[in-house]
Amino acid sequence: MDPRLEIIDKRLKNIKRLIAISGGKGGIGKSLIASTLALILSELGYKVGLLDLDFSGPSAHIVLGTRGIYPKEEKGIIPPKIYGIKFMSIIYYAGDDPLPLRGIDVSNAIIELLTITRWGQLDFLIVDMPPGIGDAALDTIRLMKKTEFLVVTTQSKVTLETVKKVLKILKELRVLIIGIIENMRITKSPLVKKELKTFNTSFLGEIEFDKDLEDSIGYVNKLLKTDFAQNIKKIVLNAPEFKSKKKL
Ligand SMILES: Nc1ncnc2c1ncn2[C@@H]1O[C@H](COP(=O)(O)OP(=O)(O)O)[C@@H](O)[C@H]1O
Ligand SMILES: [Mg+2]
Repeated sequence: MDPRLEIIDKRLKNIKRLIAISGGKGGIGKSLIASTLALILSELGYKVGLLDLDFSGPSAHIVLGTRGIYPKEEKGIIPPKIYGIKFMSIIYYAGDDPLPLRGIDVSNAIIELLTITRWGQLDFLIVDMPPGIGDAALDTIRLMKKTEFLVVTTQSKVTLETVKKVLKILKELRVLIIGIIENMRITKSPLVKKELKTFNTSFLGEIEFDKDLEDSIGYVNKLLKTDFAQNIKKIVLNAPEFKSKKKL
């Protein structure tokens, strides 16, 4: 057995909740939701980490505007704290260069990242996932066994169809799903709720399309003031699924 797998278990031991922000397609707001959710949980007083596992399109660092802050090496890697959040991303190794990885290399990079990162004690580790259920999601399920999935969708029929596939696979793999968030709502259509009802998964809430969101990317203070962020805060405060059992 790969000795790193045992180290990963140790590295993740003191993390109470691992939440992967997932969905069937790109461009539906996973990275914005993951980053904002991490910021809001931190604002509420929780100890929070954010891990960007989208190796081909890492985005969380852009949302947070993390310029000139790097991890420290000390018996592994200590993630830098950005706005109170411990942050880790492949960009610290690949920089701005594209990182074309085949399946096995994706797995190896994830294993390496999880082996070296020292998160310490956390109430929540939020994981920003690439679209769909591919190598990264399967490795997340395999290596971070406690992970719960939060599934993002939009009203788009093509997105909805892929989200159904994601939910189906997660259910088949018996992965915990905390719930579904409908993002970028532009009409009051009940389509998403109706279409996903058969999956018997909590509907955590809906987020309107926010035309001011784009301008706030890279500026955390501005981002937290958007209707988008207020919407996420409302979801966090109302959904029992976000109550971290007891604070560490
Ligand atoms: N509720 C929303 N209102 C307006 N724009 C949004 C909303 N959610 C996400 N976006 C925008 O959509 C784009 C893609 O978001 P991103 O989080 O990168 O998607 P993903 O991670 O799913 O690929 C970003 O430019 C983001 O600002
Ligand atoms: Mg993304």
